[in-house]
Parts: sequence; structure tokens; C-alpha cells
Amino acid sequence: MRKKVLAKALIAFLGAGIFTATAPEVEIVKCEAATMENIAQNYDLSFDASVGVEKTLNCEGRAVKFIAYENIIYVRNPASVEQQKLSIYIPAEYLKGGTINGYTAETAPIFMPNGVGGYMPGEILSPQEKSRGGGANASLVALSRGLVVVSPAIRGRTTVTDGVYIGKAPALIVDYKAAVRYLRFNRNRIPAGDTEKIISNGTSAGGALSAALGSMGNAPEFESYLQEIGAADERDDIFASSDYCPITNLENADKPYEWIFYGENKYYPAMWQLQDLKARGKLNNPDIKISDAPPDADSANNPVGVKDAVDMTKDEIKISKKLRDAFPSYVNSLNLHDEHGKLLTLDQNGNGTFKEFIKLKYIESAQNALDSGEDLSEINWITIKNGRVVDVDLKKYPAVVTRMKAAPAFDKMDLSSAENDEFGTKNNQPRHFSEIIYKNSGGEMADAEQIRIMNPLNFIGRDDVTVAKHFRIRHGAADRDTSLAIPAILALALQNNGVDVDFFSPWGIGHSGDYDLDKLFNWSDNICKE
Ligand code: DHB
Repeated sequence: MRKKVLAKALIAFLGAGIFTATAPEVEIVKCEAATMENIAQNYDLSFDASVGVEKTLNCEGRAVKFIAYENIIYVRNPASVEQQKLSIYIPAEYLKGGTINGYTAETAPIFMPNGVGGYMPGEILSPQEKSRGGGANASLVALSRGLVVVSPAIRGRTTVTDGVYIGKAPALIVDYKAAVRYLRFNRNRIPAGDTEKIISNGTSAGGALSAALGSMGNAPEFESYLQEIGAADERDDIFASSDYCPITNLENADKPYEWIFYGENKYYPAMWQLQDLKARGKLNNPDIKISDAPPDADSANNPVGVKDAVDMTKDEIKISKKLRDAFPSYVNSLNLHDEHGKLLTLDQNGNGTFKEFIKLKYIESAQNALDSGEDLSEINWITIKNGRVVDVDLKKYPAVVTRMKAAPAFDKMDLSSAENDEFGTKNNQPRHFSEIIYKNSGGEMADAEQIRIMNPLNFIGRDDVTVAKHFRIRHGAADRDTSLAIPAILALALQNNGVDVDFFSPWGIGHSGDYDLDKLFNWSDNICKE
């Protein structure tokens, strides 16, 4: 569940620099000053099958036996030995020549979840009987259904080696790609798993990362980054990408946030945002009174972070309007079409076929909830007639879900957001990444190329890029972190370029992931067995 990702992100953040995970099982050559040069070529990338340890965990009443190969460095010249390591988990049955759920050692798909949250360092997601959300986590459920699990740790915005911030954008994508290359390099050494059936998974910033991995396969822009860390010389495209509430398309995300929330002038920050600001000494709004709720209470970034709503300032309201007004021309520049080929656009007032498409996603969401027996009679922003959801009112919607972020939501004027930090320099100076905010505020802008290669939309449809064949994108109807328009644009861009996309907004779900594991793995079974 999202809670888990978030807690890991926070732990990693608060303990940045002192957080040490289990030591890698490869020999580390002692190096006093671990610069990139002097740890070069210390790691043999050949997988060693003798390091496996047999384990058994209980998954919904069934014993799941698997072999764990843990903390393997996946690049020859790691920039961070703490972060650039992965673990492989293989159902034990496969080592005896058995089958699970119709899969064999040769055909078993490889489920590859990342633990990135908040653009923080991502930790390895080992199989767990109890995720914070309740039952077994995605890694354990995947094993129980016969998938091989490979989870890499990944550099994040606070990762430091020798005082240098080595995990800013696009390091997270580089690492995920390097982990894929490691698997392909070892496809004949790793005892099970089909490297042509790799399925990524992530939530929020991790969902954005999963979307990036799925849409940037073998893109030449990453070659020099991958060579610098000594990634294996292999392909890094994947078969399928599962993305929960992806915080993606960052340089454009401020506009649709205001397209939805303009006029809603109070906001309720999430607990993690406040913790993050506090830890970086950037919590400087005296109006924000942090609630007494434990951080865990805010697992889906629901409005429990603050005691009272915070009023937006006049300047924030002014920029909100500017951003809202800038959204139609952005949407119109994308040339998006729905599944019937209808062009999706907006007029200057923000109305039009794109808005109708977004409304349909909420209608579909509410209808699905209604059909499964939920009582929606008290929901004031939807209209139900004779058991059919016939309309949604996007004017009433923001007051119900509440605004989480003051305008601008992502690229903050004062450079205080997680994303400003993600686009920061190697000496940790946060930077802007959206033209409109940069022009209105000053401060430094991130490199154009750094911004460009973080966005899947700049890769989809290119001849020199291999996009995953299948995507599953989920964004809860109660999610306040980014506008539904953001995953919708991603889904449409993929679909318009011939990708199979399963895109849905589950009713009542906030900013979270891995909440529908049965459905997730039914989807992966369907695409792997078709
Ligand atoms: C995450 C959530 C956000 O609202 C955001 O802006 C960036 C990252 C996250 O949970 O990963």
C-alpha cells in the first residue's frame, strides 16, 4: 500500500546519509574516498546463483516458498552502493522444474516493483506478509501467483556520495533501466523469469518512474548516463508498465491542477509534505498548524495533515488563474484523440471535448461503484438517474475532495517543493522546471534536457524508442495530489500511438497504490498469456 512507500520514503529522507541497509553480498573493494573513478570496475555483473537463501512466507493462508538473492549490485561502477542494488525472489517450485499458475521457470513473468515515493531514494520491496495496508504486499502476492520478483533500490533526490547529490533527475530512471539491463545480461544465469515479460510497478513518484521505464525503452538520451555507472550493455525496454497515480509530466502539471482547483482558495497539505518541508527547513508559512495525527494517518495524502485549512495568498490566487488559463492551449497542442478518434480539445474557458473525456472517467468510476453496491446518494457532484450515473459536476468536485497544494502545485515560486528538489543541482540547490513559473518568479531553471527526459510524452511514438506494449494506469477519484488530466494525457498519448492501455479511476481511492492486487495480477496474467 501507499502507506508503506511513504513511510519508507520518509525514513530514507529523515535518515539521509546515515540510513544503511544490509550490506551487499558482493565484495566491496575498500575505498577511502569513493569517487566514481576509484570504484570503477569493481563489480562483476555476472549473477551468482549460489547466494540464494530459501524462505517461506504466508500469503493469505498459503505458504509461499521462494529463493531470495538479495542486495546484488546491478552496475559495474555504482555511484551509490547503498542504492544501486537489487534483490531477486524466485518461487522455489521453479527450481524443481515445477509450474505455478500455468507458468514455468522459462515463461514466468518478472514483476519489477520500485519503492520510490516523493522522489526520495527507493528501497527494495522485499516480500512481506503484512503491508501497512493489511495483507501481503505486491511482491509476495506476485510470488504466490508464479511471477518472479525483482526489486531494485534506486537513487533519489537526497542520495549523497562524498557530499555530491547524485540522485537528482534523471538518476531514478537511469537506475531502473540499469536494473533491467542487469536482468537481460544475466538471463541465462538467473534460474527463472522471462526477461521479455518484465512488468514494472510503482506508486506516485514511483508510478511516474514506472511510466518512464515503460515509455523510454532504449532511448539514446540515457546511454551516457548508463555508461557512466557501468550498466550492462543490453536493452532496457520492458513488456508492461503498471502505474498508480503517476506524478508525471511535471513541467505541465501545474496547469491542470488549477484547471480543476481554481476558485478553491483553501488548501490542506498532506502530512508527508509538511514533514518534508520541515526536514529541509522550508516550512515557513506560519498559518500552517500541523495536526496531531501520526504520519501514518495520512497514507493516501488525505486532508489530515493540518489542523485548519490554510488560505491561499493573493499572489497564489493570481498565479492559479494564470495557470488555469494556460491549460487549454497546452491540451490543444497535444493532438489527443479518444478511442473513437474524436479530437480532444478545450476552449479558452476550459470547456470542450477534453473536459467531457475527463467527466466520462469520473462517470465510469461512479457507475462502477454504484454497480458494486455502493450508496452514492449523498455525493453532491454526481447525478444519478434510474441507477445510471448521467453527469458529474466538476465545479463542485474540488470542494469535496479538497485542494492539497496551493498554486503553483509543483513548481513552487520559492523553490520549496519536492519537485524543485528533484530538479536540483549536484550541490542541492533546488531549481524551477516550468517556464511559466520561472518567468514569474526568478531563481534558477533546471537544464532543458534534464526536464525533457523526465517526461514520457517526449518519447512515446518515436522510432528510436521501444515503448512497452501494455500499460495499466490507475488514479483514484479522490486523489488530490495531481489532476486526473495528467494520467489521462499519458494514457491518451500512449493509446494514440497504438499501445494497449487499461486506464481507470477507482472510486473513493485517494493517492495510493497496490490496493487491488488481485486485479493487478489478473491484468498481468491476461497480457502475458494472450
Ligand atoms: C508524491 C506525491 C506528491 O504529491 C508529489 O508532488 C510528488 C511525489 C509521492 O507520494 O510520491
